[in-house]
Amino acid sequence: MSTNDVTMATSDVTMSTSDVTDVSPEIEGKLATEGKCEVYLPTSVFYNPVQEFNRDLTISVIREHAKVHFARLREKERKRKEREERINKAEERLKREDGEGTNHQSDGEKRQLEERMDKGDGQKSQSENSTNEGKDNEINSKMSVIEGQKKNSDNTSAKVESSNHDSLIATDVEGKELELGKKYENGLRILEGLAASGLRSVRFALEIPGVKEIVANDFDKTAVEFIKKNVAHNKVENLVIPSCDDASLLMYKCKKVADRFDVIDLDPYGSPTQFLDGAVQAITGT
Ligand SMILES: C[S@@+](CC[C@H](N)C(=O)[O-])C[C@H]1O[C@@H](n2cnc3c(N)ncnc32)[C@H](O)[C@@H]1O
Repeated sequence: MSTNDVTMATSDVTMSTSDVTDVSPEIEGKLATEGKCEVYLPTSVFYNPVQEFNRDLTISVIREHAKVHFARLREKERKRKEREERINKAEERLKREDGEGTNHQSDGEKRQLEERMDKGDGQKSQSENSTNEGKDNEINSKMSVIEGQKKNSDNTSAKVESSNHDSLIATDVEGKELELGKKYENGLRILEGLAASGLRSVRFALEIPGVKEIVANDFDKTAVEFIKKNVAHNKVENLVIPSCDDASLLMYKCKKVADRFDVIDLDPYGSPTQFLDGAVQAITGT
């Protein structure tokens, strides 16, 4: 399983890396180079080139997902700014009218206007009424104009966004090019549940721009020793967090919305079915 919508506060979750300190202080292993990384593998591990293709493919998919992730953040930010602008404009209009002595706009009415903008119910029927029918109608007509302007701009931006999806670019929220190896606080949170030597996680850190953190987990203590060694050897400590836990338990511990992952990679020896329920619950956007 790979990408989907994800975010986890690792601080909230206990990653049992301390459990592995009592393992052999010296782990030998053989050196292998793949992609941009050089890793130590346990001597017993058979290095399968087909798996390299699988890892290349995973990296390509996650790189694309990072672009979509940041495009969504940019869109969210654009909408926030647009909403702020509309409220400011509405406020200015009310002030102007007050200045012209044409009105009548009390603080209550202004609040009502803002609340309606928040709810997006500017098109509300003018008949839903009380004793303030006249004032309500006036507010409704102002809202119609504002909402009409908003709809036009939403349509335009929807077109921009959909055309962007055809040629998504790797830029952050401010539009700056995403950098490899840099930690992005609003970037992707990735879990490699069955990490073995950590080769895949280290490659993610070196080859995918726009990452917040990568949790490299394995329940085997010797494997986690290799993960630690490989993380240090490739100098990716800023992005990769070694973890020693059962993958399913770890995912169930990350069910809280704030603890979920944007990407979960599961690479078991056999069928992945036993991990699917945990993965679905620990992925963002579910
Ligand atoms: C096929 S290897 C992973 C290879 C690795 N993803 C790579 O690309 O180099 C499977 C790993 O899963 C670990 N594993 C198996 N069941 C697990 C579980 N329930 N929780 C955590 N790790 C597990 C094993 O110790 C082994 O290291």
